[in-house]
Amino acid sequence: MSAARGARPQRGAGGPGRAAPPRRDAPARRPQRATTTRSVARRPEATAVELTFLPGLRDVLAAEVAEVLPDARDLHDVPGRDDAVALRLPGPLAPVVRLRTAVAAWVVVHLDVPRPKSIASPEHLQRVVDAVYASLRVAGSSTFRFEAAGSDSAVFARLAELLHEATGLRHDAAHGDLVVRVRRGVRGAGGTRPGAGRGAVDRARRTGGDEADPGWDVLVRVGPRPLSARTWRVVDFPGAANATIAAAMTRLAGTRDDDRVLNLMCGSGTLLAERLLAAPAAASLGVDRAQPALDAARANLEAAGLLGRASRTALVRADATDAAAVRDAVDAHLAVDDRPPAADLVLADPPWGTLHGSHAASPALHAGLLRGAHAVTAPGARLVVLTHEVKVMERVVREAADLWAPVTTTRVFAKGHHPRVHVLRRV
Ligand SMILES: C[S@@+](CC[C@H](N)C(=O)[O-])C[C@H]1O[C@@H](n2cnc3c(N)ncnc32)[C@H](O)[C@@H]1O
Repeated sequence: MSAARGARPQRGAGGPGRAAPPRRDAPARRPQRATTTRSVARRPEATAVELTFLPGLRDVLAAEVAEVLPDARDLHDVPGRDDAVALRLPGPLAPVVRLRTAVAAWVVVHLDVPRPKSIASPEHLQRVVDAVYASLRVAGSSTFRFEAAGSDSAVFARLAELLHEATGLRHDAAHGDLVVRVRRGVRGAGGTRPGAGRGAVDRARRTGGDEADPGWDVLVRVGPRPLSARTWRVVDFPGAANATIAAAMTRLAGTRDDDRVLNLMCGSGTLLAERLLAAPAAASLGVDRAQPALDAARANLEAAGLLGRASRTALVRADATDAAAVRDAVDAHLAVDDRPPAADLVLADPPWGTLHGSHAASPALHAGLLRGAHAVTAPGARLVVLTHEVKVMERVVREAADLWAPVTTTRVFAKGHHPRVHVLRRV
């Protein structure tokens, strides 16, 4: 065992069973044989970060990065990937956890090594340990696991041992919290690649970035859970929307603090929660015909802190295609100031497949949604619909041209499905 091993990460501050993140100024425990002075001198001035996202949401995430991480530099696509961008982040890493349209954030270390075995050498391992500590400073973990081809090999067993010695984190191959990905580097990316060391930068200058061996990338996830796993989701509801798509819907619609928000067919409240967490609203209302859905929404919104005494959020059981029932709910809950009761923003993800509805019922439901939403919205209102019924939605949007004008359509890839996010403006 290593003489370099220091005190174990404390438990408590990072949540039950988690190691507390070390203080920002706390020195990282050094791996055996690593030389502290060299590693301090080598500490990068900006952290190389990779953000993963659902394909289709790249531009939405880039806009969010510009807002949430205004100091981020060099945002660019990761070559060969449609679900990742890379950037350099001067200053603290912690703000990355505020990104709501990213699936996960990773600290990237590029190593000019021919095979993963070489990562065990002190100078390379030190950079990985530094990345682990950068992640731990943001959110604690007590275990880690590798995601890599051959992660069950002797090479990774040795790497796991060294990482454990250097950090005190326990290796749990199946359930480890802190994910450490090891993957082949990108050929030709050279010194432009995030996490590239000085050697790569020098060689890239000499070769124009076209060095023969792409080396290896080590990515350490920020946080014990992906960013897309929301702490407010205390009830898992079948067919619940992906939270990063819900956050993207809010961004695509734009937010105004005086919005009166209506979430039709709200299910467990994902769209409502993400909208209300993104910005204040004057009032909000979730409508679903199923009591279990409303119970789930109530639990989730409560967990998000959105149903307190001062909250102006209501959940109402009603059929979204029943114009009179929706009108009553809007009159009761979206009457704000002296404005006529109406919604300024309507969010919806109608059922698809057979989970909460049927394919046969889908055309009437989508058409009814557009008509019904128009009847209870204020001039200039926005309607944002997430739907898997691509052809059906295209047709009903064409047929409702006198009610809603299409603004944008965004194709998203999620778990083998390709739903669309339609943003429409009230005519
Ligand atoms: C895809 S789920 C919504 C999921 C939700 N966004 C979430 O994250 O949990 C569709 C919801 O529409 C509701 N629904 C279906 N038809 C409805 C109707 N005619 N009126 C009101 N709600 C309806 C279902 O009960 C279900 O909760």
